[in-house]
Amino acid sequence: MKITITGTGYVGLVTGACLAEVGHQITCYDINKEKISILKQGISPIYEPGLDDLLQKNINSQNLAFTSCPKEAYQDTDCIFIAVGTPSNEDGSANLTYIDKAAIEIAEHLQKSSTIVIKSTVPVGTNERIGRLIQERVSPSINIESVSNPEFLREGTAIKDTFQGDRIVIGSQSSEAAKKIGQIYEPFQLPIVHTDIRSAEMIKYASNSFLALKISFINEIANLCERIGANIDHVSRGVGLDKRIGNKFLHAGIGFGGSCFPKDINALNHLANDLDYDFKILQSVIDVNRRQKELLFKKAKTYLYSMSGKKVTVLGLTFKPNTDDIRDSVSLQLIQDLLLEDAEITVYDPIAMPQVEKLYGNKISYANSALQALSDSEAAFIVTEWDEIVQLSLEKVKETMAVPLIFDGRNCYSIEEAGKQGIQYYSIGRPAVN
Ligand SMILES: NC(=O)c1ccc[n+]([C@@H]2O[C@H](COP(=O)([O-])OP(=O)(O)OC[C@H]3O[C@@H](n4cnc5c(N)ncnc54)[C@H](O)[C@@H]3O)[C@@H](O)[C@H]2O)c1
Repeated sequence: MKITITGTGYVGLVTGACLAEVGHQITCYDINKEKISILKQGISPIYEPGLDDLLQKNINSQNLAFTSCPKEAYQDTDCIFIAVGTPSNEDGSANLTYIDKAAIEIAEHLQKSSTIVIKSTVPVGTNERIGRLIQERVSPSINIESVSNPEFLREGTAIKDTFQGDRIVIGSQSSEAAKKIGQIYEPFQLPIVHTDIRSAEMIKYASNSFLALKISFINEIANLCERIGANIDHVSRGVGLDKRIGNKFLHAGIGFGGSCFPKDINALNHLANDLDYDFKILQSVIDVNRRQKELLFKKAKTYLYSMSGKKVTVLGLTFKPNTDDIRDSVSLQLIQDLLLEDAEITVYDPIAMPQVEKLYGNKISYANSALQALSDSEAAFIVTEWDEIVQLSLEKVKETMAVPLIFDGRNCYSIEEAGKQGIQYYSIGRPAVN
């Protein structure tokens, strides 16, 4: 079976490489010509552990090809996986422009019956609409089958998540089409949930919303812990060992960012509003996260009062470790707030410095290492828990900073060690060290 993947971003590229690895013939198509030309050389335009090797291997074995020519991508294919972006509109709804354009282009070039599989996260009803949109534009002899196959991979562990995911969701009205997509995934030997299209679309939104709910819940508990002298590390452990709850997504911090959770939760909330349904919990998750993202800056304001002219350091710029993705990262909001205070900002991230430099240019300074960024600093903000940042020696940190003052949004360090080193240390949901 010949498979085309539309959109070679975090999802499309990893899916394409992993399906090629298990022996399928994959053509990855993207409208971004620059991306495709880099990919043709076997170089990944994104940072994802293990991806470069997988690309090289499957390009060499001729299972994986790249093109920016729609004719080449669509004219002779049995199955198309759409993995283009679905960012937020201003009002929180999902922006379906990319997916609509992709569908129109598919219809223009399709020469034979095909299964259209949407991997992008899309509002309930989109798969059916896209199926109709393509069917209406192709010759009547061409039959279009629609399959919703939402993606659950996480950036940073995307390859492992694809090969060892918890489940694969396949939603279709056609048992033939569902069977065909199930066969494509057979080599992964993962549990498959077969369902109708609308339920498949809903599974993705419900999953992300529930995970976000867990994060916002533990963040609320952390905020209470700070006020009543409890320690969220101990509370999370005690709660998470209950198997009905589980210990995942119980790590308190300064809220979730990234290209998925915020936009998906807003999109589901928007969908609920359109249906005149007041989704109270979801609205609270959004509100709690908005407040949590401001927390570190507000704490700093309490202790520092004025930040004008102060040398401050921001460590970690991506929305989480092991990715280069800075979309909706908490660090960007923090940098913005610090700039408004006229602070002198130095940043460091192991991977994402070039992306941030494109945004801020010479408004901020860029260091080559965490310790260099901390040199002579009067306050440090920890935003992303990269290993390199977690493993910093607090002794060296104390020596390096002009004023040993840390606001830690990810609870990276032990409060005992910070106390021992004489560092003023404010984290989330744990006693302050001052
Ligand atoms: N990133 C994640 O961790 C993740 C996880 C699960 C689901 N998702 C969902 O998957 C979808 C894709 O996310 P992503 O992070 O991979 O996006 P991305 O922005 O990294 O990649 C999208 C790609 O699609 C390309 N594109 C846009 N229009 C196109 C067209 N008409 N034809 C061909 N290519 C086109 C873009 O050039 C880009 O390379 C989104 O709906 C997202 O919510 C993402």
